[in-house]
Amino acid sequence: MELDLQCERCRLSQRRIQVVPPSGDLRSLVVFVGEGPGEKEDQKGAPFVGRAGKMLDRLLNEEGLPRERIMITNTVKCRPPDNRRPLPDEMQACFPYLEQELQDRQLIVAMGRTACENLLGRAVKVGQEANTYASIELMGKKKEVLLTYHPSACLYNLKAREGLRASIRLVRERFF
Ligand code: URA
Repeated sequence: MELDLQCERCRLSQRRIQVVPPSGDLRSLVVFVGEGPGEKEDQKGAPFVGRAGKMLDRLLNEEGLPRERIMITNTVKCRPPDNRRPLPDEMQACFPYLEQELQDRQLIVAMGRTACENLLGRAVKVGQEANTYASIELMGKKKEVLLTYHPSACLYNLKAREGLRASIRLVRERFF
């Protein structure tokens, strides 16, 4: 389903400033998926432009893969109030948009527990499963998912930071 900038499919529509669409190269074979917009993203209308975004940019740049070359999106497109995690029914309501965004990708990089669990449909311990691959089916097609850490975990956790860096390196070596 094409993203509706006037979407009211769930309660997150009531308190957002705006719907946050994907950014970067919308035809990239690789998409990085986060959790949901934060305050800065809600203000600017673009994903990963706050503190976590600066960390993601830094790691992408250090690994030679600038953000313009990949697609970046979120599990839910509207900011959850008080930066809580999106609720299951909110992720479900937003899933048709995500599915459409993932349709033409060869690799989905799921950053953090929310993105991983939403895509795999099971509990995930990122600390144990980071930099492993899973296979999922989306709209009748097999898709490969790389599980990894969320950029916000990388702000203070060096294991997470090196884990996300390793994921970015895998992507760059394979696709760019
Ligand atoms: N910013 C985003 O766009 N997504 C996140 O998951 C976190 C911060």
